[in-house]
Amino acid sequence: MPLTPPITFLREFLHRPAELGTFIPSSRFLESRIVRLGGLGEDSVIIELGPGIGGTTRAILRELPSTARLIAVELNPDFIRPLRAIGDDRLTVHHGSAEDLPEILAQHGLASAEVVFSGIPFSTIPAAAGQSILQCVWNTLAPGGRFVAYQLRSRVKQLARGLMGDPDEEFELLNIPPLWVYRWVKEAGAASKVVQPEEGLIAV
Ligand SMILES: C[S@@+](CC[C@H](N)C(=O)[O-])C[C@H]1O[C@@H](n2cnc3c(N)ncnc32)[C@H](O)[C@@H]1O
Repeated sequence: MPLTPPITFLREFLHRPAELGTFIPSSRFLESRIVRLGGLGEDSVIIELGPGIGGTTRAILRELPSTARLIAVELNPDFIRPLRAIGDDRLTVHHGSAEDLPEILAQHGLASAEVVFSGIPFSTIPAAAGQSILQCVWNTLAPGGRFVAYQLRSRVKQLARGLMGDPDEEFELLNIPPLWVYRWVKEAGAASKVVQPEEGLIAV
């Protein structure tokens, strides 16, 4: 009997726990919350980092205007097939790492994004990789853009503080496990900064 997608997720968690961060996909309550916090508009470019087997991706697509685009970037090769099976014209599935976000966007003819959603577990991946991803996200966001990260722990706040400031926070109890949802807004005219590994930041 073929594996069903949720079982694929559990199997992959057993192989790569730090990369997945949780053993079960997000609940529909968490999906709705992150989509609402993203605020999806017409003609926008939306990025999803760590879509997994695609529950969050489908939730974003349900609210996505017909003229908008969603680029889903997933590291795990076993999740690419279920993601591509979603088969929506607005969706581009990219197999790769969020650490290469600028190159990925350029490859798809894009320069910036209005919203970046992320399920990447910043508390379990190496700090240098996490900071590199946050730098890419911040550089990619258009003025007024939103970065929405759903997390088990607050490590992402610490990693992002010097670059993005403090986020708005919500807590989703109806998820296994319950998760924090953080949202940063990149104000128009925000200075570009460069992350120094595990330290402060310098403005450029
Ligand atoms: C907690 S799961 C979230 C899955 C799904 N979005 C959900 O909410 O059910 C984290 C996902 O991030 C992916 N991931 C981890 N590091 C990544 C990276 N550097 N680039 C892209 N995806 C990554 C993992 O493979 C996994 O699919």
